[in-house]
Amino acid sequence: MLFKSLFLVHLAAAQELMRFGCSQLTVDQIDPLVEPGNVPSAHMHQIVGGNSFNASMTPGSHDPPTVSTCTSCTYSEDFSNYWTANVYFKARNGTFKRVPQVVNLGLGTKAGMTIYYIRGYQSSAKVTAFPKGFRMLVGDPMNRVANKVPKGNCWRCEANMQQSPFGGAPCTGSDTPGFPKAACGGGWRMTVTFPSCWDGKNTDSPDHKSHVAYPASGTFESGGACPSTHPVKIPQVMYEAIFDTRQFNNKADWPADGSQPFYLSMGDNTGYGIHGDYLFGWQGDALQKAMDTKCANDNCAALKRQSNAQAIACTKAQASKENIGDDQWLKNLPGAITQF
Ligand SMILES: *[C@@H]1O[C@H](CO)[C@@H](O)[C@H](O)[C@H]1NC(C)=O
Ligand SMILES: *[C@@H]1O[C@H](CO)[C@@H](O)[C@H](O)[C@H]1NC(C)=O
Repeated sequence: MLFKSLFLVHLAAAQELMRFGCSQLTVDQIDPLVEPGNVPSAHMHQIVGGNSFNASMTPGSHDPPTVSTCTSCTYSEDFSNYWTANVYFKARNGTFKRVPQVVNLGLGTKAGMTIYYIRGYQSSAKVTAFPKGFRMLVGDPMNRVANKVPKGNCWRCEANMQQSPFGGAPCTGSDTPGFPKAACGGGWRMTVTFPSCWDGKNTDSPDHKSHVAYPASGTFESGGACPSTHPVKIPQVMYEAIFDTRQFNNKADWPADGSQPFYLSMGDNTGYGIHGDYLFGWQGDALQKAMDTKCANDNCAALKRQSNAQAIACTKAQASKENIGDDQWLKNLPGAITQF
């Protein structure tokens, strides 16, 4: 543990990032960003954050800090919602089982995600927190080709549950844009990274992407400047989730032809459909204060932090009636059947 915390301190100093745990709020087949009001939506998601998460979350009227009564994230002023697709395993007999997620940062016994807000890498540039109502999407659930996976989005085959050796920064080394092809001893780490520049005006756009952009030259990591169309530097939001694929590691259960037995919930068995949804919901100017005072990791003088137990206690009942497939074999992928 000592090694790990020293490592994190070092990482935070170099990169100036907040990194905190959020436990599972719910697993549900709704998507207030891409398909507002639809119950069920096209595919299943796993969601963390404020408990005002619901199918509609109407822009301009639904204000997460006002209508939430709790958050499953450790910073108690953060009622944002963060969500991604789930992963399922398909057995030889054609049935599906949901791949459980691992608790990957000090949040006791419950699965969830680790959320990052990265200010920059040794950069002194002003970082502007998202305005009220801000939302965005990264990645494309319908994408099935490697070179269209946005940068900073990838999968890592973990050798063991200790994530040792660490394997370097996300999406470097042997990380892949699609699903790992081997049986992994420590499951899969999924990293989802959003663009870090904003047009400074729109809190959303028709494709939920055009109001944000990547740096004009270089990368966020190298301190690349934002393009003139999107001049405002925003925190780089990154999600990390670990899927515990270990119970599915017996190759005798995998398709005889050697094909991939795992599917993202939209019926994607490449992993290139990796995507993440973000709906901003920090109270008042808490996130701006966190950026200005260079908050690090999951404890910061400028922010209120609840206990891990309080975060874990925040959950939300499933709105869609679909069977999410917890520890059960399902005949079909929930809801995704029309997309095969
Ligand atoms: C979502 O939450 C808002 C605000 O609490 C509420 O007015 C609305 O009815 C909810 N919508 C759904 C579909 O539950
Ligand atoms: C399908 O395969 C899984 C994994 O081998 C097995 O646990 C399950 O019982 C099978 N279901 C049926 C209906 O045969």
